[in-house]
Order: sequence, then C-alpha cells, then structure tokens
Amino acid sequence: MPKIADYITLNHISVDPLASLPLYRQLYEGLRREILTGTLKPGMRLPSTRAFAQQLSISRNTVSIAYTQLLTEGYIESKVGSGTRVTSTLPEDTLQVEADLTIALPPRGADAPARPPVLSERGQAIAKIPYDWERPRAAAFDSAMPSVDGFPIKEWERLLHGAWREIASADLGYYPAQGYRPLREALADYLPTARGVRCTAAHILITNGAQQAVTLTANLLLNRGDPVWVENPCYPGIRAALSGALARRIPVPVDDEGLDVAAGMALAPDARLVYVSPSHQYPLGVTMSLTRRLQLLQWADDNDAWIVEDDYDSEYRYSGYPVPAVQGLDQAGRVIYVGTFSKVLFPALRIGYLVLPDALVEPFHAARAHADRGTALFEQAVLARFIANGQLARHVRRMRTQYAVRQALLVDVIADELGDQWPMSGTDAGLHFVLWLPVGVDDVAVSAALQKEGISAPALSAFALQPLARGGLVLGFAALSADALVVRAKKLCGVVGRFG
Ligand SMILES: Cc1ncc(COP(=O)(O)O)c(C=O)c1O
Repeated sequence: MPKIADYITLNHISVDPLASLPLYRQLYEGLRREILTGTLKPGMRLPSTRAFAQQLSISRNTVSIAYTQLLTEGYIESKVGSGTRVTSTLPEDTLQVEADLTIALPPRGADAPARPPVLSERGQAIAKIPYDWERPRAAAFDSAMPSVDGFPIKEWERLLHGAWREIASADLGYYPAQGYRPLREALADYLPTARGVRCTAAHILITNGAQQAVTLTANLLLNRGDPVWVENPCYPGIRAALSGALARRIPVPVDDEGLDVAAGMALAPDARLVYVSPSHQYPLGVTMSLTRRLQLLQWADDNDAWIVEDDYDSEYRYSGYPVPAVQGLDQAGRVIYVGTFSKVLFPALRIGYLVLPDALVEPFHAARAHADRGTALFEQAVLARFIANGQLARHVRRMRTQYAVRQALLVDVIADELGDQWPMSGTDAGLHFVLWLPVGVDDVAVSAALQKEGISAPALSAFALQPLARGGLVLGFAALSADALVVRAKKLCGVVGRFG
C-alpha cells in the first residue's frame, strides 16, 4: 500500500471573491476538477475546513458547504479519526459505462442491405399513412398553427413555478392515468358554459392531444373491418387513427349543413362509429345544422353507434351565435367529445381531452393506463390554474379579436385582388377557411405552384377520400402578423390568379 501523504496543501486552488459564481461553488468545482484529473489521488487527505479557510481567506462555512457537496456526490469521504479523504471509487466510475467505441456500427441508410422489417398487419397499415407533421411549414398559410406571439409566456412560467409548490410529493409517483384532478375539475367547470358540454370531472380523460384521443377511441371501440363514417373531405389525423385500427372508412359527403346523415345511412346503416367536426368542419369550415345534429344522434341511438365529436377550434367564433356541442344534446350516451389545446393555446403543449359517456369511463381509463400511464403532470397543473383563474377565457377573448382582424384582412385582400369568381367559405369560426377555385381547376397544381413560392396552402382534394366536385385551398390565417399576411396574401393571389 503506497504511503499516502497525511495532509496535502492545495496551493494551486484559489477562489475569486469578485466572480459571479459563489465561493463555495468555485471551491467545489476546483476540487472536483483536481479529483477527476487525478491531481488529487484516491485516499489523499484534504485539509481541515479551518486550515483551508485560513489558506484561502474565506469563511470556514464556505469550505464546509463545498466539502458537503463533494461528500454528497461521492467524491470524498469522511471518517472519524482519519479526516476527509478523496474517495477510492469515483462516482464517474460507477455512473458511466466503458463502451468500446472502436467497434464498427452496422451500416445504416444507403449502405445498409435492403431487409425490410416485418411489421404486423396493423403496423403495415400505420406505416403506409403519409406523414409530414414534422416538416417545417411556411407560416403562410399554415392551418395547424395558432398565433404564438400572443401567448402569455411569462404568466405560464409563473404558474409552472407555482405548480412545483402545489404538487404534493405523493403525486410524483404514478398519477391516475385519467389525468390531473384539478385540471379535470377546471375543465368540468369551463366546458358547460364555453361549449355546452354536460359533464363532471369524472367523465374527463386527459390525453396527449386530440390525436391520442381519437387513436385510443378507435383502438378501443373498433374491430378490424368495422364500418366507420368519415367526413369527406376529412381531417387526416382521423384517417390515420382509423387505418391503424384496421377499420373500414366510409366517406360521407359534407354539404352546407355539415355531414349528410341521410347519405351515411344509405351508404352504411350498420356503421359502428362516426367521426364529425360539427362546430367547424375540417377542412371545409361548415357548421353542422341542428336538424342534422338531431338526426345523427337519433341514428346513433337506434344503432348503438358511437359519435366522435372533434371540437378542435370552436372557441374562436367570429359571426353568428356560438353553437353548443352535439354532446350537450345527447340523451343516450353515444357521444365521445374530443377537445384539444393545440389551437386555443399551441400544439407542442400536447394536451387534449375526452369527455366520455358513463359507460366508457372505466375502459378508457384502463386503456390509457396500459398504453402510456398518462400525460406529464406539471403542464397539466399549469393548465389547470390557467383555466381556473380565468386566464384561458381572457386569452381566448384577446386572440379572437386578433384572429378576426387577420381573417378579415386575408378575405379582403383576396376579394380585392381576385374578385367574385373566387368565393370563400368557412369564415364563421376557427383558424382557417376555404378559398374555392373555379370548377375544373386542379387544386393540387395550384398548391404546388404556391409551394414553389414558399407559400403553404394545402389543396382541398388532399383531404378527400373521394373526388370532390370542386377544388379549393385551405388557408390558415392565425399565425401571421397583419403586415406579413397582406404581403403573402397578395403573393398568393398573384399565383392563384394565373389559374383563373
Ligand atoms: C380537425 C382537427 N382535429 C384535431 C386537431 C388537433 O390535434 P392535436 O390535439 O393532436 O394536436 C387538429 C389540428 O390541426 C385538427 O385540424
């Protein structure tokens, strides 16, 4: 055993009282560095706190704090009678693996031999679905994006700090997968007045956005080949959820009154489920009439079918009266209501929710617990406070005014530049509307021409499951400032006008 110096002087360690880093932290960093580089060897004894404090002209307490930190992290150890010594096993030795980085990894990408993975039937169906959500899109005229410059980030940050104080340590384990109770309670207070939804906190299941809500629903309620009515044209996320569940999609036309229920009944009277976006149909922007809503509820009740009501952006209404949710009219417990904060706040939040009929509460809770154990707790806690203290309602009021201005600007520029032959519809609510192209004009070609100019305006037919009578462009107006909107709108009209 080599003889270890009984006491070492650490003349090379110094601290700077004028530096921004606290003295104890400087000392801790300095000693840790010396230990890791081997200047201080295992077993070496450190000076006493008193001697070290004198040497550095700092308080003994400062040295004690630095030693305690090193002790806690396992860099030094302290034994009665033998003082404080550098530990024989550094924490880094037990916390890091020694990988042999010289071993070549198998080739990837172009060099890899073509050996397609064997996916399940469900996996194959999912892998085939076009997927471009992570592609950066041009801000003009992205229909998926709300305005984020109006978001109260500072307030959110403050609430997040508060959440750390509010959440009990007992809640930091596995929280019930149904979601943070105060958030469900805040939603149960908010939804009846804001959306005419009838529920208690017990009916609500928090999800990672609307997409998880519809995917869970499809997986839990549909067998392979089950017929499902789908709006034509339709939100692509629904097509994906239904394909993954191996369901049979039955495209049902949408007209000025929304989903054509009679057409659905003629096409597939035995459908197990229907997906609708009645408040502001995606992508057409139509509001479903009361007659159709009642007709749909009656059909669902008669056939034990489920209605999935996607109410993704209806908080923003610019004309007419707010239309209450279909869920509020449901007497038979057939409606599964889907809400999301992707439009009302921002998509990366990844918080949505389901309002479930009594009979589905337990199976959905179980499915969620088995799928992923629930949504991250802290963002839920922040959102709960944001809703309960009225900030959500204030945010909606403020943004509604801003969006109304942006929508009106875009509509005006298009009307001025293109004239009457280019009608627009779906402007009553939401964050997008449709600009119709003259009959016979290929909307995919127009959209591609716009894309070349850096303008994202998806073709209506891209959302269609069956050919539509007329092409159009889906224009989101929320994410651009008024000035940018006018410039981009003029550019849009320049390109689109060439197809007239
Ligand atoms: C019709 C429709 N439903 C739901 C959503 C939101 O989905 P998520 O909550 O998963 O972001 C969108 C977003 O674009 C949508 O257009």
